[in-house]
Amino acid sequence: MEETTKSLLDDSFESAMTLTNSGVPQVPDRYVLPPSQRPALGSSLGSIETTLPIIDLSLLHEPLLRSSVIRDINMACKEFGLFQVINHGIPPSVIEGALDGATQFFDLPVEEKMLLVSADVHQPVRYGTSLNHSTDRVHYWRDFIKHYSYPLSKWIDMWPSNPPCYKEKVGKYAEATHVLHKQLIEAISESLGLEKNYLQEQTEEGSQVMAVNCYPACPEPEITLGMPPHSDFGSLTILLQSSQGLQIMDSNKDWICVPYIEGALIVQLGDQVEVMSNGIYKSVIHRVTVNKDYKRLSFASLHSLPLHKKISPAPELVGNNVPAYGEFSFNDFLDYISNNDCVQQRFIDTLKKSNS
Ligand code: OGA
Ligand code: NI
Repeated sequence: MEETTKSLLDDSFESAMTLTNSGVPQVPDRYVLPPSQRPALGSSLGSIETTLPIIDLSLLHEPLLRSSVIRDINMACKEFGLFQVINHGIPPSVIEGALDGATQFFDLPVEEKMLLVSADVHQPVRYGTSLNHSTDRVHYWRDFIKHYSYPLSKWIDMWPSNPPCYKEKVGKYAEATHVLHKQLIEAISESLGLEKNYLQEQTEEGSQVMAVNCYPACPEPEITLGMPPHSDFGSLTILLQSSQGLQIMDSNKDWICVPYIEGALIVQLGDQVEVMSNGIYKSVIHRVTVNKDYKRLSFASLHSLPLHKKISPAPELVGNNVPAYGEFSFNDFLDYISNNDCVQQRFIDTLKKSNS
């Protein structure tokens, strides 16, 4: 094992899985959130009941129905920045395979997973816990493996070789989400009144990062979170969840649970779509709650523009006005999160022009 890995192991690294498996009756102090940031599980303040939009994607292929589906997407994006999709074309066997690969990975002995540990957010393959175990002031009840996933042939050799099925099963899912992303970004372009290809051209040859998250059963879910409130940096995130746990913030700043729907995938707008749409759509602020009884897995497929490409509002949507956001690249974002506490201030807020 390399020197750096070893020192991380000896020092501070302790995964949420290790804590759960050791049967701790309470969460260690570093996981305890200040009272105002706790999820208020089980109380009516915790989250409210709202019906979130569900879009049947197969209807996009029906010439007579496409425009009404695009209208539904427009409404969902404006109101929530999120919708669930059904009939999305990814076979259940591919989804089950990905969840199986992830389950087997997180069940490996910690030494095996530590081969991929890194606190450097620029690493293309990285195992970790919380957001960044070496810098987080409060820790979150989450373990993850993140890997670059497009183009697959460029990165897959660096993915975990254990469990042996991981590359094949998760690779199939990554390819399928890449195809789905193209359809979604086209529909979202159209829903903004832009050329169907506008956003697709911007994101062409863009990156896909797969964050595979594991939230083990937690002894004190009311005082901790799996992930703090944040928005995703990319254009779109396609999220697969194995059970309920995701919450989004609505326009009244209330938290809404995103229900688990078997076979459905969740589509979330990220900061890049907010900027490209000049703020007509907003990225969705979301967080993850944990629970006492079982482990929850999720795959967040983060689709983004190429690393160094500058992103700015679409000229057609700005018209004669001043753009509401400054330009930025994915690389600028990575530099920002390496040097700042993004739980305190979101990256996108640093881009907003004061006159907007
Ligand atoms: C993320 C994320 C949500 C979830 O990885 O950015 O928000 O349910 N995940 O795991
Ligand atoms: Ni997220």
